[in-house]
Amino acid sequence: MIETTITIDGPAASGKTTVGYELAQKIGYVFLDTGVMYRVATLAALNANIDPQDETAVVQITQTLDFDIEPEIDHEDGRHYTVWVNGVDATWELRKPAVNQNVSAVASYPQVREELVRLQREFADGHATVMVGRDIGTVVLPDAPLKIYLEATPEIRARRRMGDHLQRDYNTVEFEKILADIIRRDRIDSSREHSPLKPADDALIIDTSTLTPEGVLQAMLDAVAERELPILNG
Ligand code: DC
Repeated sequence: MIETTITIDGPAASGKTTVGYELAQKIGYVFLDTGVMYRVATLAALNANIDPQDETAVVQITQTLDFDIEPEIDHEDGRHYTVWVNGVDATWELRKPAVNQNVSAVASYPQVREELVRLQREFADGHATVMVGRDIGTVVLPDAPLKIYLEATPEIRARRRMGDHLQRDYNTVEFEKILADIIRRDRIDSSREHSPLKPADDALIIDTSTLTPEGVLQAMLDAVAERELPILNG
């Protein structure tokens, strides 16, 4: 259902997930955060004692992943979805530091991407979707009628991330460490050979540095109206 697909790409903590979820709710589309899939592959490798640098072993485990992403609305702990990995709720474990540290390496392996991109396209075929990631507008769904790219300075994104972490009791995390990690991940995600992070040529670029989440959402809703995309819940 390519005519009801919206792609949102951008670097870590650019606001994609928060605002993408809100947008999906507003227009009755299903929200899919593809970063979760790369995190599932990373967590599965770590849990199986596979070195994330061992590309062959990581590819193998990605091709046999057993996981499910179940949308949640008004969940008590604020989650937008529950992620089941091998039948176990791994939603918050996917955010732990060991996954953050290794996920960019895992996401750089072409055969890992091939497998997960296949699942993402399958998903978009079956649902009206707001799909969020790094390469959704450029590689996964280049024919989508609305492609959005969010950006913000690394400092602002680190501050946002810190807020995220504090809410989840990561009490030892300091700003400088988070900033360094964001800059490191930006570099890996933007410079990798396969599907690097960049806006599609025809993407709507929104700088979220000085906008509130409501302002970003409004800019997106304006773009939805301008392109006459179907609204499915009203
Ligand atoms: O958005 P996130 O922080 O959960 O993403 C986790 C990692 O996965 C990040 O290093 C970028 C990578 N990723 C990707 O390469 N392609 C996507 N479509 C989504 C995420």
